[in-house]
Amino acid sequence: MKPADLRGILKYVPQYRNKTFVIALDGVITESENFSNILLDVAVLCSLNIRVVLVHGISSQVKKITDTMEGFTPSDLDGTGITDDQTLKVALIAANRCTHEILEGLTTADLRAVTCNGITAHPMGIIHGVDHQFTGKVERVDVEMFQTLLKDGIIPVAPPLGFDGEGNTYRVNSDNIAATLGIQLQAQKVIFVTSEDGLFCNGHIIGNIQSENLRQKLNDPANTWKPEQISKAQYAIQACRQGVPRVHLINGLVNESLLKEVFSNEGVGTLIYANEYQQIRRASRKDIRTIMVLIKQAMETEELSLRTYQDIENRIQDYYLFEIDSHAVACVALHPFSGKEAGELACLFVNPNHENKGIGSKLVHFIEDKARTLHFKKLVVLSTQTYTFFKSKAGFTDGSESDLPPERLQKYHESQRRSKILIKSLI
Ligand SMILES: CC(C)(COP(=O)(O)OP(=O)(O)OC[C@H]1O[C@@H](n2cnc3c(N)ncnc32)[C@H](O)[C@@H]1OP(=O)(O)O)[C@@H](O)C(=O)NCCC(=O)NCCS
Repeated sequence: MKPADLRGILKYVPQYRNKTFVIALDGVITESENFSNILLDVAVLCSLNIRVVLVHGISSQVKKITDTMEGFTPSDLDGTGITDDQTLKVALIAANRCTHEILEGLTTADLRAVTCNGITAHPMGIIHGVDHQFTGKVERVDVEMFQTLLKDGIIPVAPPLGFDGEGNTYRVNSDNIAATLGIQLQAQKVIFVTSEDGLFCNGHIIGNIQSENLRQKLNDPANTWKPEQISKAQYAIQACRQGVPRVHLINGLVNESLLKEVFSNEGVGTLIYANEYQQIRRASRKDIRTIMVLIKQAMETEELSLRTYQDIENRIQDYYLFEIDSHAVACVALHPFSGKEAGELACLFVNPNHENKGIGSKLVHFIEDKARTLHFKKLVVLSTQTYTFFKSKAGFTDGSESDLPPERLQKYHESQRRSKILIKSLI
């Protein structure tokens, strides 16, 4: 690895620290030559304090076992069809073997891992008159168990099986498990590691697509898809709708694809993303009172500098509100520095009842994206009590008075707040 690659990776460290990635390995990947490299990539993620959950499929393993069983054809391969008694038995053998190989590989990479009974499933039931027998779907995830393991630096390994509490085991589709874990564990990413370069529509790979656009494409009968990818696309949409910001599909047969997808702007596979900013809107004059009420307390405790109604009104076009159920719970502003390709992120405030849910970070990223679309090269923030948040959670670094244009510098001195000046390069 070149030093430049390492620098590129380090840029992402604050953003991903203590965040959860659910990585779903297709069965064919765990059998491939590249599997040990993937586990090394997982080790890199763990070393950067990213919390990893591994999910695996077993279609390829079930097929291989049943190919050697004369006169026996499995009733299902991927946990979406009918799983009869005999096929379930084969699935259990395949799953145990595969989980064991993953645990073995993780041990070789010096990583601690366990498999657990944290997935509760119930039968898929009778669909269009057909009993799906031992095929199940996820009913519940033992979030506490998974979070405890993750906090302790242990990788949970989830096979494509679920338990019902009455001694029954069900064969569950691994995409279903990955998406549900992603949603329940509030994961930052779900990454499907497959044997394809990405998601294909009409024979062409999709680079990146917003989940809602993917849903429309999937519903359009004119489009053709690789049949085995449809469930991944559907679960990706479901995960994005329920709070997972990004779902990736990558080719696990290619060396370093996992790290390249996570740590580069371009990515190598398909990125399906939620509209993270749908709850953010530009403020208008009628929101001035709301902003005043929202930030009143923070101004009193000097977390925010004083702003009058008039101050806000004069620059209302710079302000944004974050709403939940049409109720403003946070705000932020981007004040451009006139004549400079730079601006100030200001007035970031999250209602204390909504703190620690990622809203502050989302607003910072939103302002960063806005600044980039305005071709700003630098973002500045002035902070008296929150500078560690900007440094550790948003990648800002120490700046100096020379980062402020003269008129802003004058105000800075006049306020006597002696705020720390932090900057983030957007180049
Ligand atoms: C700072 C603030 C915007 C964070 O909003 P949020 O929605 O809670 O932030 P997120 O959920 O994205 O991130 C929470 C993380 O930031 C950390 N954090 C929150 N406030 C912090 C602070 N003042 N210093 C350092 N870290 C802080 C939390 O401990 C949490 O860490 P964790 O992820 O390791 O558990 C919010 O607390 C706030 O409005 N504070 C008062 C106003 C203020 O100071 N604004 C900045 C003006 S420059």
